[in-house]
Amino acid sequence: MDEAENERMHLLTFIEIAKPTRFERWLIILAQGVFYNLFFLLYLISPRTAHRVVGYFEEEAVVSYTEFLAEVEAGNHENVPAPRRAIDYWHLPPDARLSDVIVAVRADEAGHRDVNHGFADHLSEQ
Ligand SMILES: [Fe+2]
Repeated sequence: MDEAENERMHLLTFIEIAKPTRFERWLIILAQGVFYNLFFLLYLISPRTAHRVVGYFEEEAVVSYTEFLAEVEAGNHENVPAPRRAIDYWHLPPDARLSDVIVAVRADEAGHRDVNHGFADHLSEQ
């Protein structure tokens, strides 16, 4: 599992679905810039803590996607057709919808959660 590639596909897929405004895109870029630098510093200081923090973020991501899926299934969000890039990347059926994408992305996040907690546990033992 290539976590960086996973996250890049998550971002590109939801940009295609949500179609953020130019202002929202700049907010995303700004937030990424701030987070990257703070995380880099944290990783230099304590790789164990950095992996633990990511593990918790990924846990919250799983919870958020579960709530998002429930909203889509309840009809509060349109269950739009899945973008081509998502169908190709996650090998979804041709008639896949947003709900199928959410399930695939959530599975990725659960994997990221376990890998990062695993790294933090391993670094705790050293
Ligand atoms: Fe993730």
